[in-house]
Amino acid sequence: PVIRLADYKRPDFLIPTTELTFDLAPTATRVKARLTLQRQGAADAPLVLMGERLKLISVAIDGQAVTDYTVTDETLTIAAVPDRFVLDTEIEINPSDNKTLEGLYMSSGRYCSQCEAEGFRKITYYLDRPDSMSKYRVRIEAPKAGLPHLLSNGNLIETGELGNGRHFAQWEDPFNKPAYLFALVAGELDVLEDSFTTVSGREVALRIYVDTGMRDRAVYAMDALKRSMRWDEEAYGREYDLDLFMIVAVRDFNFGAMENKGLNIFNASLLLADSTTATDLDYERIESVVAHEYFHNWSGNRVTCRDWFQLCLKEGLTVYRDQGFSADQRGHAVQRIKDVRALRARQFPEDSGPLAHPARPSSYAKIDNFYTATIYEKGAEIVGVLRTIVGADTYRRALDHYFAANDGTAATLEDFVASFSAVTGEDYSGMLDWYTQAGTPQLHIAPSYDSVNQSLTLHLTQATRPTPGQPTKTTLPIPIRLGLLSEAGETLTFNDGQTETLIVLRDASQDMVLNGVAEQPVVSALRHFSAPVILNLDEPENHAFARLKGDPDPFNRWEAAQGLARTILLNPEPAQAQIDAFAAGLKAALIDAALEPAFKALILGLPTESDLAQSILPVDPAFLHASRKRFKAALSVQLKDTLLAQYKIIVTPDTFSPDAQAAGDRAFRNALLDLLLAGHSRADLADDAQMIALAENHFGTATNMTDMVGGLIALMHVQGAPYQAALDAFYARFRHEPLVMDKWFSLQATCPHPDTLARVEALQNHPDFDARTPNRWRALVGGFAANQSVFHNAEGKGYDVLVKQVLMVDTFNPMTAARMIEPLSRFRNYVSPYKDGMQKALETILAQPNLSKNVAELAGKALNG
Ligand code: ARG
Ligand code: ZN
Repeated sequence: PVIRLADYKRPDFLIPTTELTFDLAPTATRVKARLTLQRQGAADAPLVLMGERLKLISVAIDGQAVTDYTVTDETLTIAAVPDRFVLDTEIEINPSDNKTLEGLYMSSGRYCSQCEAEGFRKITYYLDRPDSMSKYRVRIEAPKAGLPHLLSNGNLIETGELGNGRHFAQWEDPFNKPAYLFALVAGELDVLEDSFTTVSGREVALRIYVDTGMRDRAVYAMDALKRSMRWDEEAYGREYDLDLFMIVAVRDFNFGAMENKGLNIFNASLLLADSTTATDLDYERIESVVAHEYFHNWSGNRVTCRDWFQLCLKEGLTVYRDQGFSADQRGHAVQRIKDVRALRARQFPEDSGPLAHPARPSSYAKIDNFYTATIYEKGAEIVGVLRTIVGADTYRRALDHYFAANDGTAATLEDFVASFSAVTGEDYSGMLDWYTQAGTPQLHIAPSYDSVNQSLTLHLTQATRPTPGQPTKTTLPIPIRLGLLSEAGETLTFNDGQTETLIVLRDASQDMVLNGVAEQPVVSALRHFSAPVILNLDEPENHAFARLKGDPDPFNRWEAAQGLARTILLNPEPAQAQIDAFAAGLKAALIDAALEPAFKALILGLPTESDLAQSILPVDPAFLHASRKRFKAALSVQLKDTLLAQYKIIVTPDTFSPDAQAAGDRAFRNALLDLLLAGHSRADLADDAQMIALAENHFGTATNMTDMVGGLIALMHVQGAPYQAALDAFYARFRHEPLVMDKWFSLQATCPHPDTLARVEALQNHPDFDARTPNRWRALVGGFAANQSVFHNAEGKGYDVLVKQVLMVDTFNPMTAARMIEPLSRFRNYVSPYKDGMQKALETILAQPNLSKNVAELAGKALNG
């Protein structure tokens, strides 16, 4: 059963009001729903409500019991209903038995809910679709013991006693919302309280609810929340609209977090942090996810999506907004590099494989399978493309227009793009092709310099390869930010003193002439990664070195290093001169006092094995691993003195601060250590023993989790260094900290040694392994599947582990199981025997009876797409 965008039809009924009464009990929760319904479709249209795994108790229309209805696994249908009526239903559910973590379920003895995308239908019979918006009143009744907090969306209207040790809370959300934004939480929780005064003077109570004893670990999230609220007012003119904003952290959650109106629910891993249990990367992600979910209050909640095909309307825009926030908090260049690195690691592979789909897909079997890097990250890039084309001021006016014109409605991507036309009078419909076309465009630039006329002609072409279901492609508007350098790495002016220009390539090919170019130029194109494309620039190798040396655009400086490293890594026999030149370029950057440590840490990060796997066909994971290891070792030996000197310059301050500057210092110091160990890991060599001792000391004396993990990774990622003692010490210290134990599992699963396979096989039976908690499962299984050289085992043993785990988890949590199909999906790109092993693994999965729709859709597409 495939759902198609082309079949969209508005609902036959409106639901102006929704009243829910919950009587909470772990195995038998009763939910009464009173809906007012109004016909807006055909006079004879039946009422068809969605509902899954619900035990129906009663149905009544206008107070009269109804018995003439049809119930299937997915619907409740009442054939003849009036044009306006009140529908009462009562159902029973079993939250404690709900391991799908969708609908109402229990986590650590606490009730919590997850409704996006289609989980509300596991709570009550409803028009569970985003264009069905309603005003909600929610009453929660429960025993007081163990359930002191009873939370839902909106404002708390009343609380009271019910006798018999029971109590209730009455909530009312004044804003219309679709069912996917409904939330309920009940249980024992600690609360961190604060407040925020909005720009217009509204006082908002802020509450973050966490496990008892964890209040201090919510301090950073609270700080991030207040900064997000201020930033959205300043950068987008968006003010918060309720008197209360709540966040709850739960351990068992299928993904990152959820923007339920006034009551965000977070995976605890993206909310709780202190210096001894969280890394800087955790802090960074907490800051950005807190912002992301908060920003959804406007881009998602006030303006929601008409249907799930428009998911990118809220997700792409909200990611773009959170990236802007993070850039303002942490530095634009560094943030951009990280965002692009993530885009290339997750979205580019998706976009070039059998699971490729447009940011607005045209069909799906399970929408949960489309919470992808393409919807999120490419979606954000498309907004960035628009902003680059129209400029910052026009962008802001267009967004103001978008929010004003669509407030309170369920909108489409056409509405979004139309806002740009509305404020400029220009036609931006060409931008819609970015949303409807899958595949990463290839941009080719062929420069030719005419020294007599001092002019540079850029021959620009674009093309996008076919993707499943889209054999032919159209051209897209591609903004190219561009500047020129001399071969010595100095900025060159052109066209009367210009230093940078923006070219928008709209056609398949176009020539662009720059005049007044005094000498042979080095082209610095696609600065700040101005469009999500693959750039092929015809140039001699020394041009990349010129950019590495002196490009005023830090993104392209980093990009130059990546490109040069990639060339060396993909070459089975790179020339020594090439390696030497790269080492010299890297050294110059490392000692450049003008560059920030956070940037230096990034430039030290060579392209990963999965990054390299996208630039070569066929992919031989063993070769890529060996090549990268060899190159790192060579750099380590050549640059030892520089690395060591830089390492020693950075002093660890006495008090921990998670801010960008301190985190940048730590990132650089850990990257230096990692590279130092890469060429010095033989304990039997005196020189190396010194470096091993350095890493052991780094780990042993670490006063924060970032340095602990940095020390462990440096030890674990080289062959020969002893790390078991460190790993055991880590376990002994943190075995009662679930979030840190997730790291312990993932550190081992991502270790590149050949014995990791046996280790992972054993860890599946470790007493602390728990496949029912997605965080723990992803730590082990997800970490392992991302471990290129170990997962791709020639005998297929890595795939066996994955198949077994996916099939096991699919029996109770299809959404999470399905996310692990992707590592098998690009099997066609691999050399034998990996290729055949991956294909066989997909076939084994598909042959399983009772496979979920989620896994069946992705495995089927991966195999046949
Ligand atoms: N809207 C949430 C967010 O991005 C994610 C919900 C994910 N839902 C799902 N079924 N995968 O903030
Ligand atoms: Zn989101």
